[in-house]
Amino acid sequence: DAAQLQEYLDTAIALARELGPAFTDGFWRTGQFASSSAYAAEDKQGNEADCVTAVDRHIERELLARLRKLYPAHRFVGEETTAEAGDDYEVTDDPTWIVDPVDGTNNFVHHFPYTGISIALAVNREPVVGVVYLPVLGELYAAARGLGARLNGDPLPLVRPPALTTPTSLAQCSLLAEHGSARSAAVIESRLGSFTRLLLARECGGAGLQGLRVVGSAASDLVLVSKGAAEMYWELGPHAWDFAAATVILLESGGAVFDGAGWWGSAIPDADRALKPFNMWNRKLLAIRHIPDLPGQPGSGRTLQRKLAAELLGFVQDIPYTPDGRH
Ligand code: IPD
Repeated sequence: DAAQLQEYLDTAIALARELGPAFTDGFWRTGQFASSSAYAAEDKQGNEADCVTAVDRHIERELLARLRKLYPAHRFVGEETTAEAGDDYEVTDDPTWIVDPVDGTNNFVHHFPYTGISIALAVNREPVVGVVYLPVLGELYAAARGLGARLNGDPLPLVRPPALTTPTSLAQCSLLAEHGSARSAAVIESRLGSFTRLLLARECGGAGLQGLRVVGSAASDLVLVSKGAAEMYWELGPHAWDFAAATVILLESGGAVFDGAGWWGSAIPDADRALKPFNMWNRKLLAIRHIPDLPGQPGSGRTLQRKLAAELLGFVQDIPYTPDGRH
């Protein structure tokens, strides 16, 4: 119920705020080649574009210890714990806390401030509580299902009509996209092919997007879209901990999320909200901000969300996966 959700949300906000100073302190001290191991980035599985720091481990340990104590009957999924356990996790119907101690670790290591703590609670495989805290920017985004989304207490989207426009074509949209950390030629070529088609003018057969940005943190992308700072976010292959919390914020701000298996080509109940299947990673994730209705046309904002999302998916291609689903 609402009171219970509010309690979970308050807990997540308090934990994020409590760990904020350790995050910010680490952000300014950690370096790619720092001489002390406490502040050096380590690569994961030999890929320097995918890194982990002592701050990731510290914050995840603290978060999970506190949550376990408060909610011993719940389940827990954390990015670093999962990576250390062989990169496998499962989200069941049980209440599950899904945390990313540092989303955008690459940004963290390069002192680019779009990096933060992500805490979600999923029930029946759907995220219902989400907190994304970007400590360096001082922005705390929080939402729970049915209770609205807020940035430092202000309702989202922060941008309001008429500044929050009603785009009717991709040429009026700015997209936040991620290129991810895989560096194989096949994956990079495929992603750049999608970027080319998205940018190419409409008269040349492309989407003619007005803007394309790579911010470097999926959670930041989604909260930026929730705020109204971009129309859309698209990525192939993010994990649940990257997007679970931010998804609640986006949905509660009036946005819509489509995942590869859910919305694309199939009918699922309440398609704007559902986020299934919710295991492993999401191969396609597409989010679109709240679109105000056109004057005198109730429901037109929702229709436009679907139209623009479907159009965007027509310009991008899946990346090559190995048979076990990796890339
Ligand atoms: C990553 C970032 C990145 C996105 C990847 C994520 P991490 O999170 O959000 O922008 O492209 O999908 O895994 O590994 O830095 O927590």
